[in-house]
Amino acid sequence: PVVGTPVPHESAPLHVTGNAVYTDDLAARGNDVLTAWPVQSEHAHAMVSLDVDEALAVPGVVRVLTAADVPGHNDAGVKDDEPLFPSEAMFHGHALAWVLAGTAEAARLGAAAVRVAYEPLSSIITVPEAIEAGSFQGIPRIVRRGDPEAVLATAPHVFEGVAEIGGQEHFYLETHASLAHVDSEGQVFVECSTQHPSETQAIVAHVLGVPSNRVTVQCLRMGGGFGGKEMQPHGFAAIAALGAVLTGRTVRLRLNRTQDLTMTGKRHPFHIVWKAGFDDDGRILALATTLTSDGGWSLDLSEPVMGRALCHVDNAYWIPNFVAQGRIAKTNKTSQTAFRGFGGPQGMFVIENLLGLVAPKLGLDAATLRQRNLYAPGQTTPYGQPVRHAERLHDIWNQVHDQSDFDERRAAIAAFNAEHPDTKRALAITPVKFGISFTLTAYNQAGALVHVYKDGSVLINHGGTEMGQGLHTKMLQVAATALGVEVDSIRLAPTRTDKVPNTSATAASSSADLNGGAVKDACEQIRDRMATVAGRLLGIDERDVRFSRGRVSGLGASGPALDFAVVAEAAYDQRVQLWAAGFYRTEGLHWDTEAMQGTPFKYFSYGAAATEVEIDGYTGATRTLRVDIVHDVGDTLSPLIDLGQIEGGFVQGAGWLTLEELRWDATDGPGRGRLLTQSASTYKLPSFSEMPEVFNVSLFERATEDGVVYGSKAVGEPPLMLAFSVREAIREAVAAFGPAGHSVDLASPATPEAVFWAIETARRAG
Ligand code: MTE
Ligand code: MOS
Repeated sequence: PVVGTPVPHESAPLHVTGNAVYTDDLAARGNDVLTAWPVQSEHAHAMVSLDVDEALAVPGVVRVLTAADVPGHNDAGVKDDEPLFPSEAMFHGHALAWVLAGTAEAARLGAAAVRVAYEPLSSIITVPEAIEAGSFQGIPRIVRRGDPEAVLATAPHVFEGVAEIGGQEHFYLETHASLAHVDSEGQVFVECSTQHPSETQAIVAHVLGVPSNRVTVQCLRMGGGFGGKEMQPHGFAAIAALGAVLTGRTVRLRLNRTQDLTMTGKRHPFHIVWKAGFDDDGRILALATTLTSDGGWSLDLSEPVMGRALCHVDNAYWIPNFVAQGRIAKTNKTSQTAFRGFGGPQGMFVIENLLGLVAPKLGLDAATLRQRNLYAPGQTTPYGQPVRHAERLHDIWNQVHDQSDFDERRAAIAAFNAEHPDTKRALAITPVKFGISFTLTAYNQAGALVHVYKDGSVLINHGGTEMGQGLHTKMLQVAATALGVEVDSIRLAPTRTDKVPNTSATAASSSADLNGGAVKDACEQIRDRMATVAGRLLGIDERDVRFSRGRVSGLGASGPALDFAVVAEAAYDQRVQLWAAGFYRTEGLHWDTEAMQGTPFKYFSYGAAATEVEIDGYTGATRTLRVDIVHDVGDTLSPLIDLGQIEGGFVQGAGWLTLEELRWDATDGPGRGRLLTQSASTYKLPSFSEMPEVFNVSLFERATEDGVVYGSKAVGEPPLMLAFSVREAIREAVAAFGPAGHSVDLASPATPEAVFWAIETARRAG
């Protein structure tokens, strides 16, 4: 199965039989393992002091970890703004201390017995409260082109609005987990469910006050990360490591679901103010917008998330005069973090929302308005990057339009709506253009370590982590292709910081591009050396040696062929190096973070979706009847993996936009700042019943991307934003309850409740 072949996820049989091993499964296998349990703040903002005596008296409790125990630095944030053991509780649920005990139950009772004295301080819960109080953090940024203010003053049609969009809980199946022990040589070994093992390693070393070479972090696999494990695992890993160092025993830390929901960061909620000008044909002339994200109590990844949001406000549309400002509110909530799309979805929300809102006011069909404003070849983004392959946006749009029988179905929908006063349908198309690469240029590098053993078997390590997205499957295919061997002769070892150092987060959808480049580099070094050996054995020029499916031969199919293992053995005998370190760096990037100008992305991923929904006028409930997607993944490395990513991303995006609602208590009562949606019973995730009834996904064809591993493109995040088509279809279905040409302002998430109220408004307008 070389690249491009449909193969199942390498761990699929383990996943479905329950035999895949996750971090916390290792704890269950060990003996003498201590469990760590947090003492969580019951105030949104307060000075705290702790009395741990009663906890120490609880049977089974071994130790209570507090600030006094930290040998190194009492901080787990990359910005040095996240005290690991705080004296000031910054949000409801903040971990103030950790209790170690022989059983989880003893640890829980111990944590309950810690006496916490609170001196409450005033708190900020909502973004409007933060704006009012001037409570911001980090550096504000601006992307600007042309003269938006002047154009908005004279544009024929000018509209403005304010929108608030909700955050999103990652709800990975596996909650945060770490397991730490000190080995026989005094080295700290941490098993961790982390997307960024190298950074987890650095923070653990920082807290312990030791150099990085004393700490090893391993990630077997994650039961989902979705960005939630890019930065948030570090503190938990540090607690487990600290406990292991202080007690000499193995320490397990696994959050239960409520702890995970109340302690860890989420997708940033955003507050948006916008003003847009159009000409008489509906062409956008100018857009001015201010985005305020809710960063929560610390910075975490809020700055780069805002940077990506600002670079995606344009989505797939040419906006000649443009200004987008971004600032980060500081609130007494969990520290909001990366989540699939990394601010891109919130940025695109600005334009998709306003196009849907103003289309009726311009007297245009929303699909026409969108299509008319798509980028044309030769145009550049507001931050100055040429939109290469912009013609694909049009090709993809037309394909989705045709494949979905758009015009015929729109006519059928109009007939349906005319006959049904209490049920309405609508069909909407939205496009996606998403930039691939880390905007932090240094992150665009990766390493790999590949060994060929004398028997011809292959072992691969690379810097990326597996969270279900199929990265390891793709890396196996890349190695099989580059070495010319069968996949089953290759083993892929868990990600470890002592095998490949200084790795980037597995994030930004870039891991196959980056690690694939590094794996390929290592494999090609080995293959080239083996070609010399094989050339001598076969008596042919080494440049004519071919490696394919475990056989090594000359150019023609008929000539003699050797087993890969025979060549490996011969290479060893001839003292030829059979292993290699591979490296890859993305070329051609330059980005000025201050000016917000340059070419931050290697390329753009494109896609479009056409979604038909039906809404119920009595309840506001939505059914997704049919979805058609065409998405550009370049030349796919692994089609089944890519289809799964597109389907999963789309559904996760639809969840964000239509179902999942985080609510915090913003009253002045004793529960102020408490997350009210603390479980799956109050936080509605997409499930089978919300899956599209018909779901057609096709990969855009003849899409080779140059300069990337085997012509492929990233896939992990962009499809999430295809879900705007669901929201826009809902908007149009709601409009059908009102008078012709009614413009619908829809809350986000567009939950059944929100849809119901929008329907009421539409009906009253009639
Ligand atoms: N798919 C699964 N099944 N589980 C995940 O946690 N994370 C997403 C995406 N797809 C995720 C996933 C996110 S946020 C990113 S950035 C990419 O996968 C990361 O992996 P990649 O770089 O290999 O695409
Ligand atoms: Mo993904 S949000 O970049 O981990």
